[in-house]
Amino acid sequence: MKVVVIIPAAGLGTRMASAASAKGKRPAASKQFTELAGTPILIHTLRKFVASVEVGEICIALRANEIEGFRARLEKEAKDVLKKKVRLVEGGEHRQQSVAHAIAATSASPDDIVLVHDAVRPFVTAELIHYVIEAAQKYGAAIAGVPAVDTIKEVQRTAEGAVITATIPRERIVMAQTPQGFRFDVLKKAFDEATADGFMGTDEASLVERSGHEVAVVMGSARNIKITTPADMELAEFYLGK
Ligand code: C5P
Repeated sequence: MKVVVIIPAAGLGTRMASAASAKGKRPAASKQFTELAGTPILIHTLRKFVASVEVGEICIALRANEIEGFRARLEKEAKDVLKKKVRLVEGGEHRQQSVAHAIAATSASPDDIVLVHDAVRPFVTAELIHYVIEAAQKYGAAIAGVPAVDTIKEVQRTAEGAVITATIPRERIVMAQTPQGFRFDVLKKAFDEATADGFMGTDEASLVERSGHEVAVVMGSARNIKITTPADMELAEFYLGK
């Protein structure tokens, strides 16, 4: 059994860029290339998976015009990442297509494990990677998730904002994180079905759920943040400093 990690890193980071341009600053590069302590977030994230002895190879989906530059950057500044087998593939218009391209480029056996992890979650830990791999082997599909601490409302969007239509019992809510891990056959079937039906999800688990396979949840971490807005960058710098 081998473990392949897919890192979708082909996003434009529009939320980060629009915040920068609203402040009159030059829009930042895609958020996965924003630097934390002089190193792109994506490289911080990759190093977490390189450190895992269980991980065999890593497939990164990038925008076409960023592939060559990133390869050169790894060779120059992050040779340690290339200790693992690293494959760079072209991403798609949406996250799901970026992951689909990486799946297509992956040669895996049905019972190999595929982990998908956001490029912009650099604070994932070795323990969490291990627990998701272990649960994915046991159940066929498993994700990291954290309980909701806020009360969750369902809303209807209005011109001025939103109005509440329902309150969802908090005990039944988990906030999905990554890594999300799957047996290769389970993930492949879910993606094939989603493509055939034209279904688009915001994470891989949603595709696997609709294909009828149960997805287990292992305890994620509040520190495993998805760097999305400039406020997240401030938190990331704080975590890194510690
Ligand atoms: O934009 P979003 O929050 O969905 O991004 C989550 C992850 O998916 C990021 O790591 C981003 O780079 C990636 N992504 C991608 N291809 C896209 C859009 C997002 O690989 N077309």
